Amino acid sequence: MDKPVTILAIESSCDETSCAVSRDGRLLSNIIAGQSVHEQYGGVVPELASRAHMQHIVPVVDAALKKAGCALTDLSAIAFTQAPGLIGSLLVGSEFAKSLALALGIPLLAVHHMQAHVLANLIPNETKQSSAEASAKASPSAAEASAKASPAFPFLCLTVSGGHTQIVLCHSPLRMEVIGETLDDAAGEAFDKSAKLLGLPYPGGPLIDRHARVGNPDRFPFPEPQIPGLNFSFSGLKTAILYFLRDNCASDPGFVDKNLADICASIQGRIISILLHKFRKAARKTGVRDLCIAGGVSANSGLRTAFLDMAAAEGWNAFIPPFEYCTDNAGMIAITGHYKYLNGDFAPLSVSASARAVW
Ligand code: KG4
Ligand code: ZN
Repeated sequence: MDKPVTILAIESSCDETSCAVSRDGRLLSNIIAGQSVHEQYGGVVPELASRAHMQHIVPVVDAALKKAGCALTDLSAIAFTQAPGLIGSLLVGSEFAKSLALALGIPLLAVHHMQAHVLANLIPNETKQSSAEASAKASPSAAEASAKASPAFPFLCLTVSGGHTQIVLCHSPLRMEVIGETLDDAAGEAFDKSAKLLGLPYPGGPLIDRHARVGNPDRFPFPEPQIPGLNFSFSGLKTAILYFLRDNCASDPGFVDKNLADICASIQGRIISILLHKFRKAARKTGVRDLCIAGGVSANSGLRTAFLDMAAAEGWNAFIPPFEYCTDNAGMIAITGHYKYLNGDFAPLSVSASARAVW
């Protein structure tokens, strides 16, 4: 029998230090250490993030190996996030990965973070909420339409994170085409910057999500930008929110406190409608019927529900990663590394991390 393919993967692109172990494309562990140090600064401080990665990386790798029940000698290759991200943070993970691959004499797999977010939809995991289950909550017909466990190629993915907003056409695990993207802010930034204007701590996306659950999304109609094609823009919305809050707070200093749930629901509702309007357009244009969402903002409860509703109404198959694979995690790096391993797509030990990355 062939030796199983066992990948140890490291993710350190921003403010989560994560390590996962996969065997033959199934995840055995996925350990994530967050960094609360940034909360008091209202955003990620790159220097502090690098130092926290230095502190966390060895214990996180150790925990991932133990949880997986794996020894270092079981590993077939080391995968790591090569780009994009904060350069100091990426360097901690990439240099650790290179050293480990060198010491063990095994190949190195350099992974693109955004490609990995997309492939989170291919993680076969026991705890993964199947699209059928998820869709059943939206409507019974959607459950029938989405009875598949994972998307079939070609599929479309709306990747929404703190730094990116993209519509990706995926031909195969390693062949992806960006067919739409943001011209300015990312969707996650729109959430985080709006939250900051409302006086909420970083990261604001999950807090807006929480307040929005009990708010009225139609109370404050924020504008939807008219951008041609499949691209997005969120800077106009940010400016509209800034002026809206400035004007209302001038006449009533308690305006935000009194209306927080409705403001959050209205902001979230507009971000979702901007995203799904373009995603629907992309699906109709390409004729692709399997649709996924990915990235930190795909953890948003309003987006998840609205996406499932849209897919049900259009008769498309909808796929959403479970929460732990939406925000940054090494599980998605492991799965991408697995496909790269099968493809023989190895990186030299001289490979360097990069803050920016073209597709
Ligand atoms: O993918 P991710 O973890 O990191 C990047 O690659 O950027 O995404 C982080 C982003 C942040 O902007 C955060 O506010 C947002 O995802 N986010 C959310 C939610 N959970 C995370 N935004 C809205 N609702 C959520 N529940
Ligand atoms: Zn990410």
